[in-house]
Amino acid sequence: MTAYYEDLSPGTGMRAPRAWLRSSQPKLSLNGRWQFKFSTNPAEAPADDDWDELEVPGHWVLQGYDRPRYTNTAFPFPIDPPRTPEANPTGDHRRWFDLPEDWPRDGAVLRFEGVDSCFKVWVNDAEIGTAKGSRLPSEFDVGAHLWPGRNSLAVRVHQWSSGSYLEDQDMWWLPGIFRDVTLLARPVVEDVFVHADYEHLTGAGILRVDVDPSYARILVPELGLELAPEETVTIPSVEPWSAEVPRLYDAQVVAGGETVEVRIGFRTVAMVDGLLTVNGRPLFFRGVNRHEHDPRRGRAISVETMRQDLELMKQHNINAVRTAHYPPHPAFLDLCDELGLWVIDECDIETHGFIYTDWRGNPADDPDWAPMMLDRMRRMVERDKNHPSVVIWSLANESHRGRNFGTLAEWTRERDPSRALFYERDRSYEFSDFYSLMYTPLDELERIGTRTEDVTIDEPDLEARRRALPFILAEYAHAMGNGPGGLAEYQHVLERYPRLQGGFVWEWIDHGLLLPGATDYVYGGHFGERVHGANFCIDGLLFPDRTPSPGLLEYKKVIEPVRITGPNPLTIHNLQTFGPLDHLEFLWVEEVDGVEVAAGRLEVPGVEAGAPVEVDLPDLTSDVAGERWLTVRAVLAKDQSWAAAGHEVAWAQFELPSRVVEQPDASTEAVEPKVEWGDDRVLLGEGEFDLRSGRLVRLFGVPVEGPRLDLWRAPTDNDNGQGGNNSVAVEWRAAGLDRLEHRVDEVVVEEQQLVVRERVAPDGLGLGVRVSYRWRAVGDGLQLTVDVVPEGEWEGTAITPRCSSWPRIGVRMALPGSFGNVRWFGGGPGEAYADSREAARIGQYECTVDDFQTPYVVPQENGSRIDVRWAELTDADGNGLRVEGAPHFQLTARRWTTEDLERARHRSDPTPAEHIYVNLDLAQHGLGSASCGPPATPQHTLEVAERTFALTFRRTP
Ligand code: GAL
Repeated sequence: MTAYYEDLSPGTGMRAPRAWLRSSQPKLSLNGRWQFKFSTNPAEAPADDDWDELEVPGHWVLQGYDRPRYTNTAFPFPIDPPRTPEANPTGDHRRWFDLPEDWPRDGAVLRFEGVDSCFKVWVNDAEIGTAKGSRLPSEFDVGAHLWPGRNSLAVRVHQWSSGSYLEDQDMWWLPGIFRDVTLLARPVVEDVFVHADYEHLTGAGILRVDVDPSYARILVPELGLELAPEETVTIPSVEPWSAEVPRLYDAQVVAGGETVEVRIGFRTVAMVDGLLTVNGRPLFFRGVNRHEHDPRRGRAISVETMRQDLELMKQHNINAVRTAHYPPHPAFLDLCDELGLWVIDECDIETHGFIYTDWRGNPADDPDWAPMMLDRMRRMVERDKNHPSVVIWSLANESHRGRNFGTLAEWTRERDPSRALFYERDRSYEFSDFYSLMYTPLDELERIGTRTEDVTIDEPDLEARRRALPFILAEYAHAMGNGPGGLAEYQHVLERYPRLQGGFVWEWIDHGLLLPGATDYVYGGHFGERVHGANFCIDGLLFPDRTPSPGLLEYKKVIEPVRITGPNPLTIHNLQTFGPLDHLEFLWVEEVDGVEVAAGRLEVPGVEAGAPVEVDLPDLTSDVAGERWLTVRAVLAKDQSWAAAGHEVAWAQFELPSRVVEQPDASTEAVEPKVEWGDDRVLLGEGEFDLRSGRLVRLFGVPVEGPRLDLWRAPTDNDNGQGGNNSVAVEWRAAGLDRLEHRVDEVVVEEQQLVVRERVAPDGLGLGVRVSYRWRAVGDGLQLTVDVVPEGEWEGTAITPRCSSWPRIGVRMALPGSFGNVRWFGGGPGEAYADSREAARIGQYECTVDDFQTPYVVPQENGSRIDVRWAELTDADGNGLRVEGAPHFQLTARRWTTEDLERARHRSDPTPAEHIYVNLDLAQHGLGSASCGPPATPQHTLEVAERTFALTFRRTP
């Protein structure tokens, strides 16, 4: 007989799926400490002794039993559907609970919000049923088996089941009872289905609520309504729900002494003229893909964490979330209704691992699997159908083509015609209301925007249908490690063409795990998994502890719902879909050399969604000399549910004409010091150079390791890409950029300058660069000009590949470790790169060298500040070094070398050295998002070419 965990049934004994309801009926939470016994396979029966304790909701692999496994696409067991491996980790859970004599046992329901991946349940030793579908609820009638006093509950959970073949999402495999368990008294109100439309032309709301039982009453006190199930009423004027203004009306459904609380949001989703509209207007998604993740608790996340996620999204201008790749905890959707986000609710289906059989046996195309797949769709739709935030149902993720999607789509359209359907991976899109792709390069996106993309389907009707569909970028901008680059370019294209209705960055949070007592996050491979996806799950906009990464700050800036342009005319564009801007106030500040000289508030006339308005420039009369910038900021005028008054939503900076500044002209500075030759030293002004190497060894009396050319950086995940052609790091390594040798050819004096000439090149290859360092004394400082000329086979040969870019071009030097404070005038406060620099604004900043680092979970190049005019690195007394650009440079400073950083696999790996290593770059290569997507664009490619740059060193104070 086939074991229940290997058969193709969705479960046995489950009640019909229904909405998630907040009921007044008595209920008993069964969360808490349970007894637990782990077995390595289902054949082991738990002995009566020998039980441990475990927290429910939770995953046993995060509580000391067995181990988490991370795979991206591969199943961590042989592909032999629907069979599971013999080693099928099994967790027996049991607990007791007391029911008072008068607790209404009759008709009671036992509800599980999520159990991964398959379980059987017993109440007072009576077998009740089984279920699969990890991220979906299951309910069982248990009334007949309960008694007053002490009752027992036992749940046997198997990690692997036939259902696992439908659950191959790119994430940790985390078995267990990971969502709430509740005993509910008999539901009188079985189910509720709210249909609340909004007539955008008249402002009317149309309400109908289907209820089982049909004798229920529905009350909406705020609208003075009392209606019967299935009765349709038109309310002449309601406030609509939108993600921008998430207006909800409280309602009660009352029957037989039970009251169910529902919150109604009036909104109408419709496909109009090839676009997804809500309340008559096309939507534009500034979205993220969100997995449920907590570094200690895995997917057993708390409601506080869900709220934190949503507040962070709102604070970062994100207006949409795709619940990649399964329905979230139901409370999350309640919070989306309340805080205001558009939701693509995705079904718990992904069969990605069949890519390794070339899709042979893919359940999605096997009618035997249709019942199990349809069951999942039904459980999602029924559970979540009352959330105004959910505007799109997604059938699945990455499960190729399959007939079963037709079954799912057909059922869903029939059951809930009020929402759109989405499925990305069936390239015919026949069951989807959207054309969609992932990680689409910009040129392709442009073509899609103009509907000039290549023909993708042979069948003309389907092709014509697809071409008429709106487009959603289901995933893009892979936020793995340092990146993504190119967000601004994407936004530019997405906003340009109406067909493009926005996108969803991959992904919200790094799935790093923090094990008890550990300080470093771990990722795939840590647990000795035979097959694993390494750090491919460390690809979020948030670090695992939910600290925003620079990528999130960049995204926030790029997707601002208000765009400020100027300065003359100064224009405020309301990029929202529905709301006015009266929740914002506009502040300005004028700074000279990063120091505030004037500030005020702007009067901004009311402006409708989608429209611009011109604003009078503030009175900028200060006559302080220096570099002048005007910064205009839009901040919340009053507290919102997701941020306090004063929270910044949008900003812009404009450079103003400088007042006359006295530029000290180096050539007219006091008598220039001459170069003096010693036995093994050369002196020039305050600099002391090694005679043989020409390298600076002492500056203003401070020992330094002289600046020398540096072309290398610790490759980022996006540099590494996916190997082969999709990896600049492979190209750079092939050209030996990670092992450059310096040979000094000449140390001479020319026109009062100390000139050092070098050739820098790797072993074994003929390519290299000629470098000259020209030093001259300027007043109290030293100026360095560097010329770099590439030579040799950068274009490649018959057996060596072409190398067309450099990671960086600049100089690196070592300073005393005591110079641990950084102050600079330039871009900040955070890191920025050529294609991720929108969030950097010009100002004066300071922090420590330690805080200058961006703590990527897997260490890699980070922390660069751009457009730096000058920077000072000083000790606690303010003594140190000042570097000035001509005009700008890019600054990186850390307590370890690039090589140490490159070797590190975890945050705590690089050990602080005695020195501070400083990179002063003319430029760095862009970031791109080639870890899963396109590389840096040509515009942000640091091409191999002749370059010259200059820096001036001075003493500080
Ligand atoms: C997509 C997939 C995601 C994730 C991403 C890369 O193909 O849908 O689940 O794997 O790539 O991180």
